[in-house]
Amino acid sequence: MEIIHVSAECYPVAKVGGLGDVVGALPKYQAKLGHITKVVMPMYRTKFLYENDWELVHQSSQYLGPQWFNYNVIKEKTNKLGFDLYLVDINGLLDREKVYGYDDDTERFTSFQIAVCDWLSSWQHKPDIVHVHDHPTGLIPFMMKYCYAFRHLADVSSIVTIHNAQYQGWMGWDKSYYLPAWDTWKGGLLEWNNTINPLASAVKCAWKVTTVSYSYLNELKYMSNGLENLFEYEKGKSVGILNGIDNEVWDPATDHFLAKNYDAEKVDKGKSKNKKEICGQFGLDGDKPLFVFIGRLVGEKAADLLPDAISSSIYQHHGNCNFLVLGSGEPDVESHLETIKHQFGGYVNTYIGYSESLSHLLYAGADFLLMPSRVEPCGLNQMYALRYGTVPIVRSTGGLIDTVKDFGEYHGFGIRFDQAGVWDITYSVGRAVDLYYHKKNLLTWMQQYMMGIDHSWESSANEYLELYEGLK
Ligand code: ADP
Ligand code: GLC
Repeated sequence: MEIIHVSAECYPVAKVGGLGDVVGALPKYQAKLGHITKVVMPMYRTKFLYENDWELVHQSSQYLGPQWFNYNVIKEKTNKLGFDLYLVDINGLLDREKVYGYDDDTERFTSFQIAVCDWLSSWQHKPDIVHVHDHPTGLIPFMMKYCYAFRHLADVSSIVTIHNAQYQGWMGWDKSYYLPAWDTWKGGLLEWNNTINPLASAVKCAWKVTTVSYSYLNELKYMSNGLENLFEYEKGKSVGILNGIDNEVWDPATDHFLAKNYDAEKVDKGKSKNKKEICGQFGLDGDKPLFVFIGRLVGEKAADLLPDAISSSIYQHHGNCNFLVLGSGEPDVESHLETIKHQFGGYVNTYIGYSESLSHLLYAGADFLLMPSRVEPCGLNQMYALRYGTVPIVRSTGGLIDTVKDFGEYHGFGIRFDQAGVWDITYSVGRAVDLYYHKKNLLTWMQQYMMGIDHSWESSANEYLELYEGLK
């Protein structure tokens, strides 16, 4: 089969969060299973662009409403990522350093999607599957079916994967003229609550809808930022497929970001060497359990609870714990964290920003990973933590339910709690502190057990292929 993934992110080209990881890995594993997989994404000005060789494969122009634009499609020459990588360049719109966060994101991603459909329509043959991811590519299933210019694609199967339904790409009806002429009888397929809603449109128009975990699929029917009824209505064509992780990139035995590589047998020694490195760098005490948080400092991740949860844990557990936070996001949360870092010097430190290398070192050197998320469609951090023998402490939501079992249960290996609240986090930190100081053997068993759990992409990649096959 020939599968086209269209996405705003793809690791290592451009990554903001887990979407990048997934689109950097799933196509590679599909290619390993013998399929032709292609990833198409915007040509941002990131390091990867300048460090690799490219060839021009297509050049054309299109319209965003009355505005004419030129676009180029370039291809990475060596297939070094394990799939064909194509970047779409639109000067003035996509030539930016960051992926999201510009005032003209609507114009940027709409023109990108128009260019993609235009390019695919120019092919002599048709691909088997167009697989889009989240709202920045959510208008494609509609455009493939109902824009007259792209009729060539009308019978090509499209699939949308929902990585996060909190963001939907809303745009006012006054911008409907951006889309190339379309069948206006079908306007209802663009709309939700009086606006054009690209994510809702994808759910309505794609042939299949997938979510990145089973539990998230259920959750969406009662908590999806306004789309609850839609997910209930479309449940017949929706399926949950748990994300995998790229075991080649995330392997403590070979990871070159670590101070010491290790496997399950040497987990004790390996982790303590990495922990020593972290504690040295951040002025923390290597004899105490190290709790880390890695991620976007936003409400979804319940990052706003961290400052109070950390200070109350330090008081309640008599200073027998250390905390390190790696992330960036809401300015209030960042400054609150800076305050407690000064208040609890030697117990708390932060790295406000993004660092791929530090994240790897933390998964390896930490004893516990905190994920109090209010919303977590899948979550990759906890799966990386498992692979590196770090106990995840998670709220019972979305993909965290599907991947973490509390150590109080038979063969449990993590810590779970129910409420995204300071008390639940502090209590769970207490259970972890107790494990660390008083149940060392159990902790080592848990570490070794979780390192043996297989969350690699192989099985999930197959589930997607079965889904595609069903559309033939
Ligand atoms: P989300 O996509 O919602 O942010 P995921 O758990 O799916 O959450 O994926 C987050 C990914 O981003 C992981 O690979 C994590 O290691 C990475 N990440 C998040 N914040 C940072 C950061 N500040 N520095 C390095 N990596 C980060
Ligand atoms: C989103 C979700 C996260 C998921 C990731 C990859 O960013 O917030 O839970 O793991 O996508 O699917």
